[in-house]
Amino acid sequence: MRKFQGVFIKNEREIACLAEANRLVANILDAIGDMIAPGLETRLIDEFTQNYCERHRVKPAFKGYYGYPYSVCCSVNEQVVHGFPSTRKLAEGDIVSVDVGVVYQGFVGDAARTWPVGRVSQEASRLMRVTEDSLYVGIDRARPGCNVFEIGAAVQEFVEAAGFNVVRRFVGHGVGARMHEKPEVPNFKPALRGVTLQPGMVIAIEPMVTAGTYEVDILDDKWTAVTRDGRLAAHFEHSVAITHGAPRILSVSDRGLERHTINA
Ligand code: MF3
Ligand code: CO
Repeated sequence: MRKFQGVFIKNEREIACLAEANRLVANILDAIGDMIAPGLETRLIDEFTQNYCERHRVKPAFKGYYGYPYSVCCSVNEQVVHGFPSTRKLAEGDIVSVDVGVVYQGFVGDAARTWPVGRVSQEASRLMRVTEDSLYVGIDRARPGCNVFEIGAAVQEFVEAAGFNVVRRFVGHGVGARMHEKPEVPNFKPALRGVTLQPGMVIAIEPMVTAGTYEVDILDDKWTAVTRDGRLAAHFEHSVAITHGAPRILSVSDRGLERHTINA
């Protein structure tokens, strides 16, 4: 595969595979969104995703990745990312972030959304709306000739203007035959300049936004990232192809692109 500044340039066939992988991911997320309700055990989200992958003959991308034990990540409230699905029941007022990845013909789809469980606080719904909006602010910078770090700068500026913070510990990434490829796609403005985006690059942009501090801790399970101050976090992710023109969001479901944040 051709590279530019160390980043793989995908051809049309490879982009088509990535688009299909991401369409399946987005369809899974639509179905999960329909399941979210008070009383749902988050392990059922994992079970659904495994069944869906079997039915569609694709592989969950996360299971076994550096030993990650599940097919999805379910992160509730102060959990930022990489939470384990469990027998925990979602409760009215919670927010839940779900991250899904599948492998279709050797190519990885990767996307995430956060949902309210029943009625949630004003702070929670504003946090989700700002996080999802910040993703689109970042996507708008995913154009040829732009520096990849302009994405994070734009996300950070938008989020901080809303009074929230962006997590530094985890970043977005190039995505292709591997889930994590170059370049890193931070949600903040790094000191250096990054690569110049080119048509054929595919990146996962995934702002993780906190109501309070951006500092996170990792729980004893070695995976679950939680906010250090215990306040809420939200996470939205799309996989996006750089084209000659406007950014092409690949993680679009058969229902089409919707804003998924409700009652905001
Ligand atoms: N979207 C997440 C990421 O890009 C998913 C990784 S979860 C893992 O890092 F368990 F597979 F690591
Ligand atoms: Co990702």
